[in-house]
Amino acid sequence: MHRVVERIRETGDVVTLCLEPVSGARLDFLPGQFNMLSVFGVGEVAISVSGAPRDAGPLRHTVRDVGAVTHALSESAAGDLIGVRGPFGSDWQITPVNAGVAMETRDVVVVAGGIGLAPLRGAVHELVAAQREGGGRVFLLVGAREPSQIVFNDDLEAWARDGAKVMVSVDRATTKWQGRVGLVTTLLGDAGFDPSNVRAMLCGPEIMMRFTARALVDMGVDPEAILVSLERNMQCGLGWCGHCQFGPLLLCRDGPIVAYAGLVSRLLSERER
Ligand SMILES: Cc1cc2nc3c(=O)[nH]c(=O)nc-3n(C[C@H](O)[C@H](O)[C@H](O)COP(=O)(O)OP(=O)(O)OC[C@H]3O[C@@H](n4cnc5c(N)ncnc54)[C@H](O)[C@@H]3O)c2cc1C
Ligand code: FES
Repeated sequence: MHRVVERIRETGDVVTLCLEPVSGARLDFLPGQFNMLSVFGVGEVAISVSGAPRDAGPLRHTVRDVGAVTHALSESAAGDLIGVRGPFGSDWQITPVNAGVAMETRDVVVVAGGIGLAPLRGAVHELVAAQREGGGRVFLLVGAREPSQIVFNDDLEAWARDGAKVMVSVDRATTKWQGRVGLVTTLLGDAGFDPSNVRAMLCGPEIMMRFTARALVDMGVDPEAILVSLERNMQCGLGWCGHCQFGPLLLCRDGPIVAYAGLVSRLLSERER
């Protein structure tokens, strides 16, 4: 049981909920993992943790209002109670700074579409901190349908100030928009990372991840070095019910973050037919 301590409006249909446990310590999690959040009397849905393990304070989840449960979550106010089960699933495999483990020095390109930046937010915090300590360079490429749909603007500015290369593109510009226009894949060629020494993390609509992963492979990136975060309907989160099946994988247990290699790239391509 958790209590909402703050609700932050990110865009017209996206809010971040800050939650504190009613009793006990905050849940431990790794960047990219998700929790099952429940609104009593409405239902339960999978929502990624959008905070960073290094940040003290409440557990953060960023929610887009698309249906019954996400609407009830989006409407919840400070003081309301929410059920939290988790954390579940795989993570972005980030080496934390000062963990006594050799620093990852490969470039890392992070590509997010829309609210796909939420499951990546904690990872980017860690990666930017690692870059400051001599870790790989961070390239963050963000795509949104229109400027009003860009989430975490303050973070984007802070990460750029801290040395990450941040590029944003929108599908549809407004008269005030001064930045890039076009699909997020159009940013790849100009970003400046080394395709032979890079790892990639992709999260967003499946079609965006498919085209981005293919473009990266065409640039020479090793498919094993490309991680994608896949979404399927989740019910148990524990590998019991089969709702989240993706070929032979159960994405609550074997995912949601998987390497874009072999079977996964074939399954992602087959869904196009
Ligand atoms: C591992 C994982 C992590 C996730 N992380 C987040 C997150 O951080 N933030 C977040 O907002 N959502 C996230 N989701 C998606 C979220 O679980 C769904 O949006 C939610 O289950 C929808 O439930 P609902 O009852 O609100 O809508 P429903 O009533 O189930 O659906 C309403 C409408 O939304 C559509 N819809 C359902 N699921 C999705 C979806 N995944 N994407 C877009 N449209 C959908 C349906 O087709 C339907 O038209 C994640 C999903 C998974 C599997
Ligand atoms: S959600 Fe039940 S098996 Fe994955």
